[in-house]
Amino acid sequence: MALVSVKQALLAAQAGGYALPLFDTFDMAATDGMFQAFEAKRAHACIGLYGGFFERPNARANVAYIRECAATAKVPVSLMLDHGASFEQCVLAISLGFTDVMFDGSRLPLEENIAQTRLVVRAAHAVGVAVEAELGHVGSGREYQSFGAKRLGFTDPAAVERFVAETGVDFLAVAIGTAHGVYQGEPQLDLDLLREIRRRVEIPLVMHGGSGLSDAQFRGAIEAGIAKVNVATELFMTSAQRITEAARARELSYFDISRIAATTFQERCGFYIDLFGAAGRV
Ligand code: 13P
Repeated sequence: MALVSVKQALLAAQAGGYALPLFDTFDMAATDGMFQAFEAKRAHACIGLYGGFFERPNARANVAYIRECAATAKVPVSLMLDHGASFEQCVLAISLGFTDVMFDGSRLPLEENIAQTRLVVRAAHAVGVAVEAELGHVGSGREYQSFGAKRLGFTDPAAVERFVAETGVDFLAVAIGTAHGVYQGEPQLDLDLLREIRRRVEIPLVMHGGSGLSDAQFRGAIEAGIAKVNVATELFMTSAQRITEAARARELSYFDISRIAATTFQERCGFYIDLFGAAGRV
């Protein structure tokens, strides 16, 4: 199928009370496993590439591979720049055929985040690309006890309406207690804050830092208004763990390694698709 913006699918998820996962990929084995999961589950495929990825020499080839897979996929596919670091990076992604871009100005002061997000939105909307932005800052799991657990970086609900109105952004990533990577301690989500944000704006809300949350936390966040959940670290860690376990038991060929990675991605991505209620929607 042709690549499409994830916007309509996220609006449908929001209206239907379920969420779409975004999975990040860095290579072909991960991408293959994801596609198998999205097709087997009949779910809209939302695939993310990190902004930092563009500094790699093989970035264009990787994007071309995903586009090639999308062309023959049996489900609609969206390709999103995840954590775009600058206006220029977002424009580069758009020129490479991305359907959606996240501009991450979450470390900037509010006024600067608004100003830069607005610029990205103007450029992206001119060519039919949807934009996600982040208000508040989702930190890293490594520093969870000194940051997220202390409510540092949490989205200020009072700023949400203005941010959305002045930027024209399509989806909003919120900071409500999640973190990227492995959590130091137990993650605590503030679902009351999420409900408050949900009441104030209409656009789909996004939760980053999915790895390490419990099934109940995912369900609670989706019930409280999250329409898209980003998951990455757990997929890579579980794949690495299974490759390590297999290598302890027997000598692996190169092909065994990519096969274990792809089948792990298929299984774990399928798990999240089911958990978020995204299966059977396309
Ligand atoms: P995790 O790696 O913690 O799952 O977070 C993924 C993410 O939010 C990517 O944007």
